[in-house]
Amino acid sequence: MRVMAINSTGLQPGQGAGGEHNCSLAPLPSDVAKALSSVSLRCVECSALYPGIEAGRSPRYRCDCGGVLDVEMAFRIPGHSSPEAQDLEASGDGPTTGGLSHDNMPSAGASLRQLFDERAANPPIWPISTDKLLLDCSGVWRYRELILPAPERYVVTRPEGNTGLYPVGVENCGGGRAGHRQIGAFAGLELFFIKHEGENPSGSFKDRGMTVGTTMALMLGAKAVACASTGNTSASLASYAAQAGMRGIVFLPAGNVAGGKLAQSLAYGAQIVQIEGDFDDAMRLVEQVCNEQGIYLLNSLNPFRVEGQKAIGFEILQQLDWQAPDWLVLPAGNLGNTSAIGKAFRQAYELSLVDQLPRIASIQAAGANPFYRSFKQGFAQRESVYAETVATAIKIGDPVSYTRARRVIEESDGVVEEVSDAEILEAKVVIDRAGIGCEPASAATLAGVRKLVARGVIKRDECVVGVLTGNLLKDSKTGIPQEVGESVVAATIEAVRSALAR
Ligand code: F0G
Repeated sequence: MRVMAINSTGLQPGQGAGGEHNCSLAPLPSDVAKALSSVSLRCVECSALYPGIEAGRSPRYRCDCGGVLDVEMAFRIPGHSSPEAQDLEASGDGPTTGGLSHDNMPSAGASLRQLFDERAANPPIWPISTDKLLLDCSGVWRYRELILPAPERYVVTRPEGNTGLYPVGVENCGGGRAGHRQIGAFAGLELFFIKHEGENPSGSFKDRGMTVGTTMALMLGAKAVACASTGNTSASLASYAAQAGMRGIVFLPAGNVAGGKLAQSLAYGAQIVQIEGDFDDAMRLVEQVCNEQGIYLLNSLNPFRVEGQKAIGFEILQQLDWQAPDWLVLPAGNLGNTSAIGKAFRQAYELSLVDQLPRIASIQAAGANPFYRSFKQGFAQRESVYAETVATAIKIGDPVSYTRARRVIEESDGVVEEVSDAEILEAKVVIDRAGIGCEPASAATLAGVRKLVARGVIKRDECVVGVLTGNLLKDSKTGIPQEVGESVVAATIEAVRSALAR
């Protein structure tokens, strides 16, 4: 494996945002300009602050120093009159954040819990003449005060979210779910939940960020959107771009995308550019071409995508009746999701939605483990590797959201673990046989939980939520028996009886 140390932005000098080929934006509609006036972007490296959108400049994805940007906004809490709550400055990931504040916001937390619970309690009703989807039905826009103040007419939603949270621990899985208990037994946990983000409309958690990213694209008047992807982001982008009537362009590492994901992008009508290189090459190129041609970039480098993925965290907390778990465990590749869920938990804690900050464990494939390598050195140095793993979704050697995710691990007293391909495939069989199923990268979660429990990092009686990020059908080959020859029998009752007796 090739390993190299690089600077903390992951960019070579002079590779920052901007450039002479950027097209200027047309003036924004007044409702968009007003909505975005409460949004700022803060560099996670140098803390420079930029407006959410800059007049006459195409969208900014990086600071002038090359650092990645994080959304900061003034939260508006409906029905809450105290000035602090009305204009609470959400702390970003910037170093200026300081310590976590929690005790000054108890009434904001109660107001928000009530608001979100009322929205979740209403059944979806679609007036026949409606020209819009009701935002409360989306597991992202239900939390819109904490996500993006988008005027309703721009929101592009399927709707997404509302994914299952399965109790699978030895103790909490319940009598009628002996199959699910196998997952808890494998992990060695009494109180264990599986959050299945593969139940989103396009089959992965990416839809949570994509609904917000595509909404931003529409607000900004973009005609085309693009991303680099190991497959799920591209499937999601293709779906949402098609819904919004935009041109979707996806950059894929040639030969390294699972069949189901490729089929989705093709079927939804995106333009596919297969790069003769790896994901990291595709990422570098898509960023460059988007900046050159004014195409709206929808990788998690886009800070608004991260805001949407925060909803995974909010929804888990709501499903647990606002009791924070002890641990949240998830697979990690480009580190957007670690950043997003960590940010959601921090904001939920600061707003007193919950009283405890869960610890976060990011799990990497051993062959694609730059974040793990940095963690092992106390984050002394940002690492990059040439990635190789059977879990193609997380086959990423130079993660874009390194700094954001590092903050999440440090702030939450979290950990980063690595698991081998054999461990990933072993865990996948357990999840599949329990009748839940997932794609290979998602199984890194269970493999990681099992390892952390065995090492005593996670205690057997702690409450753990593990995220499954993608649907089983995304990859029908890896880790699934392909031989069905023996199961073919003659169409007679005798042949069937003898097959069942085997
Ligand atoms: N699990 C699945 C199924 C994924 O598709 C991804 C990322 C991850 C985990 C890792 O999440 O990048 O936020 O750390 N897939 C991206 C894509 C890279 O292009 O679909 P992350």
